[in-house]
Amino acid sequence: MAEQKQRLGILASGRGTDLQSIIDAVARDEIHADIAIVLSDNPDAYAIERAKKAGIQAVCVNRKEYADRKSFEEVLVKELRDAGVTLVVLAGFMRILTPYFVRSFPGHILNIHPALLPSFPGAHAHRDVLAYGVKISGCTVHFVDEGTDSGPIIAQRSVPVLDDDTEETLGARVLIQEHMLYPQVIELFCGGRLQVEGRHVRILPPKK
Ligand code: GAR
Repeated sequence: MAEQKQRLGILASGRGTDLQSIIDAVARDEIHADIAIVLSDNPDAYAIERAKKAGIQAVCVNRKEYADRKSFEEVLVKELRDAGVTLVVLAGFMRILTPYFVRSFPGHILNIHPALLPSFPGAHAHRDVLAYGVKISGCTVHFVDEGTDSGPIIAQRSVPVLDDDTEETLGARVLIQEHMLYPQVIELFCGGRLQVEGRHVRILPPKK
């Protein structure tokens, strides 16, 4: 019997190029899943337009309209559940999620971070990379746990940091890698090919 397709719920706060790479990979049949819903905390996020253009349900849950994180996250969880989401994908979602949210989808939340974790976690990775003077940066896809950018690492890609880089030039170089890596990892998850043992994530061979 064919396995049930995963139903993705994608959360994005901004321009949504990571989201677009996932939409495109689903359309090309490189990710065998359905995008059930796109959620944004920001009414001005271009990600919402991208979802609508692709015919995907898109909902803004404006953080500013909620008194606290808990009531905001309760609405996010309800939207995801109502849409039948089985895998939550954070794609440039710039809010830290509380344990309540993380426990609502245990082991079923992925994030992409624009640096080589565990170095440079947080919201200003490129700025921090440039300030520190490292020569290599990149991106990391990881499971989300209750810490900030601290969950088990699934895959990473590296890029050089150049002497004359700005946050924009470095960010653009990293994004090229993000757009390749994130769809690949989502497909591995959907194919049941990620095995988590503590902090270690093994990539299993394709199923016959
Ligand atoms: C991406 O670089 C993503 O890795 C990063 O935000 C950018 C979103 O770009 N995420 C974080 O920093 C999460 N802490 P996009 O809106 O074009 O997809």
